[in-house]
Amino acid sequence: DKYIGVLTSGGDASGMNAAIRAVTRSAIFNGFKVKGIYRGYEGLITGEIKELTTETVSNIIQRGGTILKTARSQAFMTPEGRKKAYETMQKEHIVALIVIGGDGSLTGARIFAEEYNVVCIGLPGTIDNDLYGTDYTIGYDTALNTIVECVDKIRDTATSHDRIFFVEVMGRDAGYLAQNSAIASGAEAAIIPEDRTDADQLEQFISRGFRKTKNSSIVIVSESPKDGGAMHYADRVKKEYPQYDVRVSILGHLQRGGSPSAYDRILASRLGTGAIEALLEGQRNVLIGIRNNQVVYIPFAEAIKDDKPFDKSLIKVLNELSI
Ligand code: F6P
Repeated sequence: DKYIGVLTSGGDASGMNAAIRAVTRSAIFNGFKVKGIYRGYEGLITGEIKELTTETVSNIIQRGGTILKTARSQAFMTPEGRKKAYETMQKEHIVALIVIGGDGSLTGARIFAEEYNVVCIGLPGTIDNDLYGTDYTIGYDTALNTIVECVDKIRDTATSHDRIFFVEVMGRDAGYLAQNSAIASGAEAAIIPEDRTDADQLEQFISRGFRKTKNSSIVIVSESPKDGGAMHYADRVKKEYPQYDVRVSILGHLQRGGSPSAYDRILASRLGTGAIEALLEGQRNVLIGIRNNQVVYIPFAEAIKDDKPFDKSLIKVLNELSI
């Protein structure tokens, strides 16, 4: 028997289970058998693998996290680790590998595919939405909605106390979550890596007279290891404007959990079936993405370029609407 292997890797994202289900069912529908690999590439190295059936993936479309578990494998970054992974694939009769994950996971897949001439197909699974060539990644919409729900709640208390809140959101080096959650929650500003320097953005927010017409303000700050994130900006404002009552809220990992939105479930289902279709067409080493609401194939080398174009018109939208 020939098997398709499926794994989730890197940070988990809501909708990964829907993707596992879609890959499994679509593969079986098309005459393949499927093996689930646990803890990302780790399971490929250690052989932690179980066959997936239509039954084992039932009742998971609505669940956050990943039933296959996930990891950021250090061992897979070494040639020895990848050699073991290849040996496991042969032993388990896995003829193609479907990797659900973000940037780091696809980089691993790309190196592996080049080294051993194995067939790899990627599915974009990350809340960060930072993969080039796809308009959306699985998990992004759910995380965005979670953030908006949280900011709505913070707004209630911010208004009651006339406070300024700096709310830090995830995204690694990408500002999609920050910018779009700011627009959706009616925040006064967003500080994102794509918009000039971070310091300028705070200056801009202050110089616009952030309390002219409002008695509370919410600034969404994209996490950034470089500048210290929301704490840093809060400290600056506290020092320069002691008259304002400033608070910080770091949303953290709650942004990664929860039941996937309808959008993420549908996206995962479309891309999961797209992965099997791509295999049937003889595609290899491509990411299955969505562009203008069409399923597309993006070569790995392109998908992991770290210059996904950020739509600057989103900055204008927020600036105009937050007066
Ligand atoms: O890539 C997803 C993500 O949630 C990023 O937004 C964040 O920077 C990172 O993972 C956090 O990683 P960890 O869960 O390992 O702390």
